[in-house]
Amino acid sequence: MLMNRFETAVVNSPPRRALQRFYETPTLLRLGGMLAPGARVLEVGCGPGYGTELILTRFGADRVDAIDLDPAMVDRARRRLARFGDRVRLAAGDVTDLQAGLDAADAGYDAVFDFAIIHHVEDWRDALAEIARVLRPGGRFYFDQVTALALATRSYRWLTDHPTHDRFTGEGFVAELERQGLQVGTRWATRIRGHYLLGVADRPLTNGDAR
Ligand SMILES: C[S@@+](CC[C@H](N)C(=O)[O-])C[C@H]1O[C@@H](n2cnc3c(N)ncnc32)[C@H](O)[C@@H]1O
Repeated sequence: MLMNRFETAVVNSPPRRALQRFYETPTLLRLGGMLAPGARVLEVGCGPGYGTELILTRFGADRVDAIDLDPAMVDRARRRLARFGDRVRLAAGDVTDLQAGLDAADAGYDAVFDFAIIHHVEDWRDALAEIARVLRPGGRFYFDQVTALALATRSYRWLTDHPTHDRFTGEGFVAELERQGLQVGTRWATRIRGHYLLGVADRPLTNGDAR
């Protein structure tokens, strides 16, 4: 679902960019490492595109396809990312249907990034199934999430709009990834009494997959 005006202003602010650059990116790099050279990446819920920039410059992606439900955010991201030329492809669309938004094929990406978006999605299990579908065997999902515990606090309830049913805890999110066939193991952590979750998950190679 779309963000309200307050949260949109927060997401477009310098403090949000600082958090993404100085905390979330180093934490995800520690848990999941850099991308392999030539990596083709998908970012879901790219917002104003600052995460996309970090995926290119800090994680070492070669190309990034990025999607967001809000066309105004996609316009912002397009302006921010113009200097990367055809290394970035942007689209307005829904993470639960990446075929419609980006014509995303099965197993088409080396990595997928979720910077704080899945808790906005009513059918968040469908979003994880779609992410698992487009990740190639051996590919990696980097996630950074707000959990049900944070969304239940007074400040989130008063200031932001989020789906109210079927919210996830950190443990619930990781369990659903494992149910979708992605392997997380111990590469995840919660912060501030379980309010925030960061981690990585791999889509395992099977016997028939070329390495
Ligand atoms: C909290 S913002 C995060 C933006 C950016 N990734 C960041 O970390 O600053 C959540 C973003 O998810 C987008 N969003 C919400 N529901 C979505 C959906 N179903 N599919 C794609 N994007 C969605 C919103 O428009 C918003 O830009």
